[in-house]
Amino acid sequence: MISSRVRNLKESSTLRVNALVNRMKAEGKEVFNLTAGEPDFPPSEAAKNAVLEAVAKNQSKYTPTAGIPELRELIAKKTNSQQSAISVSRPWRASDVVVTNGGKQAIFNAIFALVDSGDEVVFGAPFWLSYPEMVKAAGGTSVVIETRAETGYRIQPEQLERAISEKTKLLILNSPSNPTGSVYAKDDLRALGEILKKHPTVWVLSDEIYDRIEFVKGVWVSFLDANPELRDRTVTVNGLSKSGAMTGWRVGWSITPESLTPALISLQGHSTSGICSLSQAAAIASLKLSHSDFEPQRLEYLNRRNLALEVLRKSAKIKAYEPAGAFYLFVDCGALLKDDQDANGLAERVLQEAKVAVVSGVDFGAPKCIRISFATDPSTLREGCERLVRFFDSM
Ligand SMILES: Cc1ncc(COP(=O)(O)O)c(C=O)c1O
Repeated sequence: MISSRVRNLKESSTLRVNALVNRMKAEGKEVFNLTAGEPDFPPSEAAKNAVLEAVAKNQSKYTPTAGIPELRELIAKKTNSQQSAISVSRPWRASDVVVTNGGKQAIFNAIFALVDSGDEVVFGAPFWLSYPEMVKAAGGTSVVIETRAETGYRIQPEQLERAISEKTKLLILNSPSNPTGSVYAKDDLRALGEILKKHPTVWVLSDEIYDRIEFVKGVWVSFLDANPELRDRTVTVNGLSKSGAMTGWRVGWSITPESLTPALISLQGHSTSGICSLSQAAAIASLKLSHSDFEPQRLEYLNRRNLALEVLRKSAKIKAYEPAGAFYLFVDCGALLKDDQDANGLAERVLQEAKVAVVSGVDFGAPKCIRISFATDPSTLREGCERLVRFFDSM
């Protein structure tokens, strides 16, 4: 009875682990939960106050499908500030922005509007687990490029060249990355851009949702800052879930050229319409804050990353990749697994025996790895990582 498009979708493994953790907690068991895909910080006071004010002013009506004009204007301004080459030649305007229910809907809209049945979508593994499912739902085919820790989990230009065929419609890039925390520097993006220039029908979706969470300042750049010539076939996705610490308020967006934006608005207009009016008020307030207001959070993530790395590196049995952004540590557990084993069983054992919840890399396309989140308080993080090291060393 279920359509084939939906029947074949996989349940998100992060949600599955969380359900297990909650069950253990309800049974009174102690669990060190290192699975969070969201900040443990509250949103800014400015954002919270803006919601209260919007409630008091009865801002309860439908808003335009693509978002409140002031918010679209602020998003265009933020994007222009991160894409200096574009802002000089052809700056983004408010009308290029579509405000969405989280970054997730922006990615979903773009894939649905661009990908036809049989089209190929290229992205690197390890990947954010929703990309292949969205591509599948749109009737497309995922073409996955294996990336390696040794090359910073970044797609190499020659790999991209090999992966592109006449069926390729879209390349998805994610920097900083979930799950590895890998970041593409400007030169890396330029090298990929050179390949893309030879394939004028291929679009790019640059998922920049972790943009403010970077550990080597100045390395991360927006894709179009490196490749302004690709403006007319690039979708930039961002939002406030991670950097604004407001995952539940569901604010994301896309910025796209005129050839695509009306299709995105039409798709959203017939599905969810404009996002919650109160969340848009919070987003406006959040986007008016200065970059320095987010610095304490960035530094806190950096401290936690260093703390977790220091503990995990005590075990010679695992290899933890040093992330340059986002709030995840990706750990290669290959030495602990037999050839026919993947990290699902390991993650289950770690949970049952060491009482630490981590996410298996299987659904991220890296079956011998686990993902540890450091978006949690330092004492839970330290105890969780110490338990992991003791457990792995006893295996
Ligand atoms: C790489 C990546 N892209 C997009 C999203 C979606 O973010 P949002 O919660 O704003 O929908 C996430 C959330 O986990 C993510 O990790």
